[in-house]
Amino acid sequence: MATNRTFTMIKPDAVANGHAGAILDRIIKAGYKVVALKYTKLSAETAGQFYAVHSERPFYKDLVSFMSQGPIYAAILEKDNAIEDFRKFIGATDPAKADAGTIRADFAKSIDANAIHGSDSDENAAIEGNFFFSNFERF
Ligand code: GTP
Ligand code: MG
Repeated sequence: MATNRTFTMIKPDAVANGHAGAILDRIIKAGYKVVALKYTKLSAETAGQFYAVHSERPFYKDLVSFMSQGPIYAAILEKDNAIEDFRKFIGATDPAKADAGTIRADFAKSIDANAIHGSDSDENAAIEGNFFFSNFERF
């Protein structure tokens, strides 16, 4: 069943570069309701669990290292057609291929340091949201 929620992380590069506030502002102005929000830091272990689907890929080690290098903002967002719209809103994984005006085009430096995460399916949005948030942290 389709849902209207997605999960996002503002990644360590964007937080370290001071772009988290601007990105969150753009998310809210684009019509997403913030259902849950947390400032936290992944360990190598939790980053590895979060991206376990990529564990056989050549970039997995770098991805885990990058995602655990500094704090992130994690959030659950609500909007009609949230998954698909948010993936368009953040742009392609490689910022060099991201459409103008997308978050990754404007804030990401490379395919590794690509500023933001967006869930790729309703099922994964639920899994990822549950990874970070209890039911007492959603409004
Ligand atoms: P996320 O929103 O972070 O999940 O990115 P995505 O859904 O656009 O891409 P995907 O889930 O396929 O990959 C997860 C992360 O691994 C990406 O955000 C990239 O940082 C990294 N990644 C994916 N593909 C490559 C690749 O071919 N090379 C490298 N170096 N990194 C990659
Ligand atoms: Mg992904």
